[in-house]
Amino acid sequence: MIPRGLCSAKWHLDRIYLRTLGSLTGSGYSLMVLNKAKYGPMWVTHAGPQTHVNLASAPLLEQVMRQEGKYPVRNDMELWKEHRDQQGLAYGPFTTEGHHWYQLRHALNQRMLKPSEAALYTDALNEVVDDFMAHLSQLLAESPSGNQVSDMAHQFYYFALEAICYILFEKRIGCLERPIPQDTVAFVRSVGLMFQNSVYVTFLPKWTRPLLPFWKRYLDGWNTIFSFGKKLIDQKLKEIETQLQTKGPDEVEISGYLHFLLTRGQLSTREAMGSLPELLLAGVDTTSNTMTWALYHLSKNPEIQAALHKEVVGVVPPGQVPQQKDFAHMPLLKAVLKETLRLYPVVPINSRVITEKEIEVNGFLFPKNTQFVFCHYVVSRDPDIFPEPESFQPYRWLRKSQLAAPGVHHAFGSVPFGYGVRACLGRRIAELEMQLLLSRLIQQYQVVLAPETGEVKSLARIVLVPNKKAQSFQATARVSDGKGEKVAAGPGDRRNPAHFL
Ligand code: HEM
Repeated sequence: MIPRGLCSAKWHLDRIYLRTLGSLTGSGYSLMVLNKAKYGPMWVTHAGPQTHVNLASAPLLEQVMRQEGKYPVRNDMELWKEHRDQQGLAYGPFTTEGHHWYQLRHALNQRMLKPSEAALYTDALNEVVDDFMAHLSQLLAESPSGNQVSDMAHQFYYFALEAICYILFEKRIGCLERPIPQDTVAFVRSVGLMFQNSVYVTFLPKWTRPLLPFWKRYLDGWNTIFSFGKKLIDQKLKEIETQLQTKGPDEVEISGYLHFLLTRGQLSTREAMGSLPELLLAGVDTTSNTMTWALYHLSKNPEIQAALHKEVVGVVPPGQVPQQKDFAHMPLLKAVLKETLRLYPVVPINSRVITEKEIEVNGFLFPKNTQFVFCHYVVSRDPDIFPEPESFQPYRWLRKSQLAAPGVHHAFGSVPFGYGVRACLGRRIAELEMQLLLSRLIQQYQVVLAPETGEVKSLARIVLVPNKKAQSFQATARVSDGKGEKVAAGPGDRRNPAHFL
């Protein structure tokens, strides 16, 4: 039996809960589909003393989102806050609310939120993409068959961590090096530790904390995450100080995001130390899983992949490196990412608590502080909005295209980055990062599923991840000699078929 409160609005914690449930059932979200079939697009669940109003249709999501106030509230993030309180740390964008959240977002939005601001990081991201491509090529060459890479999801994870660290802290942390530096390994381990142990501490009563190991492990995980961030911020502060001493305040050039936040009085050091680790956590699984799913579907759909390759090399010929301006001419690339996020919304359930006023939804009046749960996973697979919702059809996003699938889109049918002033802070960075990497992969490799690979199912593991055991890809490197593409054989030759496992 599946416990009530499955669809509770604890944005972070329930996704962890669903991880447990997901591993038991194969897919925790099927319950939402069943609930919608049974009760319609709106139903109530209870989790302890809390009542949640679940919404599973695009018009209902729209009604709530459009009525959110100046300071939208997702949920209380109590467990995260407990750690910050114990350690005397400032709250970050996930943990803070109200006017303080507003001010914090105002500071953090700069140099991050707009596409033109994200574009400032193109060179930095391309540097990481270059290293990733070299790393991949090396892994292929070194594999026993000369053409295999094991666990692409893992490789994407390290790519995403390297990329977001470089953007946020302006430091490379060696994720694509060998061996990976010890403190980077410790950081990755501590993220796992923190998430795994949150499952237990969420459901165990507080009195068990001194008796069982979970609470301590949970706090230890967080502490390592924050000390990793602190070390990087301290390094940056030292650099700034040295520059100030040698050059004087007017001559110091703002180098990147952290430098900007710290020197333009946007954030105090304490606020930066509280916020940046939260941004870092938000920026890894999200993009890496989306990349894994995109590659999976492209490998299953060779004709879409071929069309994408044609589009990419039509704009950026082999040997050249994509730039942000190029993506304006790559509608299919964008559509592939949109379709991937429709099928696997990284945040499959989200929520809003409307604290400021009563609101009317679906003809009913709800009191202040009602917790609404957005069932994005169900909505983005609604056949009324997306015909043949289970199939991967990026052309559905290209309305003017002849290949565009028929169907009536609803603006709130797929909102993978959320909505409004509390929407994803890293959206533009994430999009750019994924576009730069995916275009380069497709420019250089042809990816297919390995014959032994079965259907890959989604597993609710904090974000929707592929069931790795069933995940196996093959790829053929594309090489151009200027007269057209060639495929050649021979161990270590990048034109060999390569397996991404
Ligand atoms: C595929 C990539 C990503 C997806 C799909 C995604 C999705 C989301 C969603 C759905 C939310 C909640 C929005 C809402 O409640 O309306 C969110 C919040 C957030 N995301 Fe992302 N995200 C991605 C990547 C990133 C990256 C790379 C960063 C790093 C800068 C980031 C930072 C944040 C932060 C800080 C918040 C909290 C914002 C707030 O509460 O004010 N995200 N994201």
